[in-house]
Amino acid sequence: MKKIYFDYAATSIKRKKILEDILENADKFDGNPDSSHSFGREAKKILEESRGKIAKSINANPSQIIFTSGASESNNTVLSGFADKKIITTNIEHDSIENTYNPEKTILLKIGEDTNILDQIKEKLTDEVKLVSIMMVNNETGLIFPIKEIGEFLKDRDVYFHVDCVQAYGHLDIDVNAMNIDFLSLSGHKIGGINGFGVLFARENLPSFIKGGEQEKYRRAGTSFVIGAYSMAKSFPYMIEEREMIRELKNYLIESLGKTGLAFEINGNPEKYVDHIINIYFKDYRADFLLTYLDMHGIGVSAGSACRAGAVIPSKVVERIYGSERAKNSLRISLGFENSREDIDKLIEVLGALR
Ligand SMILES: Cc1ncc(COP(=O)(O)O)c(C=O)c1O
Repeated sequence: MKKIYFDYAATSIKRKKILEDILENADKFDGNPDSSHSFGREAKKILEESRGKIAKSINANPSQIIFTSGASESNNTVLSGFADKKIITTNIEHDSIENTYNPEKTILLKIGEDTNILDQIKEKLTDEVKLVSIMMVNNETGLIFPIKEIGEFLKDRDVYFHVDCVQAYGHLDIDVNAMNIDFLSLSGHKIGGINGFGVLFARENLPSFIKGGEQEKYRRAGTSFVIGAYSMAKSFPYMIEEREMIRELKNYLIESLGKTGLAFEINGNPEKYVDHIINIYFKDYRADFLLTYLDMHGIGVSAGSACRAGAVIPSKVVERIYGSERAKNSLRISLGFENSREDIDKLIEVLGALR
């Protein structure tokens, strides 16, 4: 049975071309970039070249790029840096934001299907608020937030702007200057890099909660994960090349869903959502049943976020936007570079057999 992966928003399939390239050049990754011998210098060269490429991908300066263990750490670092300040964020952020902010100091924006978040920010922003933290693309529904407009509004105000760009990176253009972003979080494994590597773009230094050596110019201690940086930097150009293909697949999936004969609705308006995430409400089936059924046919999808220890827990985001009954019957299908029209045909055939 051919296995089909539709869970790229949880983590991407790894890019075999990049893994092979790493193996072929394995000697170059041996040293510790902070060692002064030739092994160290070689690793340092790769690390800094990767930093340069990642910086360029978001129009940042390499000195503003801090390597971390993942976007959870990047998000934690920013939110912890503002723990004693008043902040604005939304009720559909990733758990690494939601579990870090201080609820007593947080103004939580409630997101609906078509909420104009900028109006809410305008209404709630006071002089006391020192950070606005909004994700660019929601990981459970694919909802896109108007980051450029928010950045424009915050530009000349005495408030910092943090954007969790994990699910936008590679799928949508990001420019930290044009968008007036002060802090930004990225994750390597969502685009095909190796898990356990992330980026924090920071215009200003924040206290690192990992203390130790001088790595990352004292902004984040710990021996650098050179292969993580390399694999992320190498993956980015592929993401740009694959955009059109993913858009076509999304349209094909939406067109084909009717052929299942199942009663369904797309959660949200697909026109306003990123191409690789489609969240679908199946009126007559529970998501935990569908997930197990599809898994038995070798098809991997998810219900909510993958950060929930393997349990099938309904999407908190669908629940907050549409209520808990709809969330219990909603599935997330997220597309990536190894998917094809044949994979979608198979999904439709397997779902159709439920009738
Ligand atoms: C929107 C969003 N932010 C943050 C994260 C955390 O990223 P990482 O796995 O690199 O810690 C994820 C991962 O699911 C995500 O989707």
